[in-house]
Amino acid sequence: MRKLNLLVTTALTALVVAAPRAGAQQADLTGLVSSPDEPVMEGVVVSAKKDGGIVTVSVTSDDKGRFSFPAGRLEPGKYTLSVRATGYELDGARALEIAAGGATRDIKLKKTRNIAAQMTNSEWMQSAPGPDEMRAALLDCQTCHTLERVFRSTYDSDTFTQVLTRMANYASESFWLKPQVRPLNRASNPEQFRKMADYIASLNLSAGETWTYPLKTLPRVKGRGTRAIVTEYDLPRRTIQPHDVVMDKEGIAWFTDFGDQTIGRFDPKTLKLTEIKIPETVPGRPTGSLDLELTKDGTFLVGMMNQGAIGNYDPKTDKWKIWHMPPEFNKDNIQLNQVTINYDVDGKVWTNTNDGTGNIYRLDVNTGKYELFEPLKLLPGGPAANAIYQVSPDKQNNAWLGEFRNNYIGRIDAKTGETKFWPVPTEKSRNRRGRMDDNDVFWFAEYRGNKLGSFDTKTQAIKEWTMASPWSAPYDLVTDKRGDIWAAGMATDRVTRVNPKTGETVEYQLPKPTNARRVVVDDSRPLPVFWTGSNHGASIVKVEPLD
Ligand code: HEC
Repeated sequence: MRKLNLLVTTALTALVVAAPRAGAQQADLTGLVSSPDEPVMEGVVVSAKKDGGIVTVSVTSDDKGRFSFPAGRLEPGKYTLSVRATGYELDGARALEIAAGGATRDIKLKKTRNIAAQMTNSEWMQSAPGPDEMRAALLDCQTCHTLERVFRSTYDSDTFTQVLTRMANYASESFWLKPQVRPLNRASNPEQFRKMADYIASLNLSAGETWTYPLKTLPRVKGRGTRAIVTEYDLPRRTIQPHDVVMDKEGIAWFTDFGDQTIGRFDPKTLKLTEIKIPETVPGRPTGSLDLELTKDGTFLVGMMNQGAIGNYDPKTDKWKIWHMPPEFNKDNIQLNQVTINYDVDGKVWTNTNDGTGNIYRLDVNTGKYELFEPLKLLPGGPAANAIYQVSPDKQNNAWLGEFRNNYIGRIDAKTGETKFWPVPTEKSRNRRGRMDDNDVFWFAEYRGNKLGSFDTKTQAIKEWTMASPWSAPYDLVTDKRGDIWAAGMATDRVTRVNPKTGETVEYQLPKPTNARRVVVDDSRPLPVFWTGSNHGASIVKVEPLD
């Protein structure tokens, strides 16, 4: 009986403490968002950045036009406000002082005169006249810069054949702030780009001062999509490209820099960044890594792209092991993207090269030897007409492949080397990044198909879910412990959450142009926490849904 009493008392105390006292602060900053033509604005992202700091916190206005930064998110001090709502800009002061008791600030917006500067790549693609097949080619232009650059250009078709030749010869690790040239040219004949050059010259400003077609914009996010807090942590240099962000058990964000020979270790609690050099490089080759995988023994595997190697970093000893490819495979255009972690099964790591061959290699971690597999020889058109983007291991360490030019899922049997392909229902889906879940279901993002897909490796059943916005260009996806699917549109700067059972899709708007690649969900708390890297904005991005 005494024990029970004690319990009741404790519960009561907890209630009293949790209940807000009269006049106590419930939010650090609240207000209403309006504009002359829309007195109540839902779906406007309001961001606050503390002056001199590296953290930007953002919330989104609800169906009453109200936004609210929950208590504890913005410590007292001087802040700068910004908004994201395509078509609008802030009308009024951006500076704001938050006192110990919090602050209120109603936000007035006005129509912008420069909507082009705010448009996402998806909005440019929706606006562009022409057949889908031509528009889809623009998906390949947004990996290194925004499409705004393409649509604002003034070059005619002739000049564009030259510009497109230059683009094709930039290494994949490039972006506009840090071009890197491929060691071996991919293109030398400008005429091969004539059709695309004609098309872009019909879309851009080569013939006049403004666009001849209406600029279409996406509706703002709404409902559940307004219920999230986004935190962006700026990295110290604009040229850092956090391509793959991975969270460890301690809540540290680890990432590959897509353009440099480092991996980053960022602690969101202390805001401390440590950059760890990848020790060996091949001089003259483009720098940067893609896939970062946390292995079962707490080390990291890194796909070292043009460096022609797989790296393995052990945070406990701060030591690297680098497995270089042998010279017969390690040509100047080698580009190892992905690595797989189930080497406890048979001592092997799968990797793929994005050099036009679609070759798959398998590393023996004990001997350092690489074996070659040529799966694309099985497909119509062979390596010239197909490509592999993703390699994921199942529990037997068979390799599952996402094919990136057409719509195939493939499998290489680990024991026999036998290869098989299955087409997914959506033509030209261009299956990009993905991963295997604990039940050996292979999940893949359909970059061009604008869908999220799953392939049950046991039953071969394929399912697809369409992204909420057209031309979202999902790069990657991941499932959480509730079964929800999480992805981000590289072209929309929106995070997508799908309930696969009901089909309900929620979109959360990110505050800035982000070009999100790898996505992860931290499932250690009651609600999922989504993380990604701003590959073009040099920040680590966290999205905390409120339900
Ligand atoms: C692999 C990276 C990469 C890809 C893919 C890429 N670009 Fe670029 N682009 C760059 C870089 C880097 C720059 C800035 C340096 C320069 O102008 O060469 C640039 C600049 C541009 C410019 C401005 C050029 C100028 O002279 O001002 C245009 C226009 C452009 N790109 C169009 C495109 C189009 C169209 C595509 C798709 C067919 C594309 N880019 C794909 C890397 C890329």
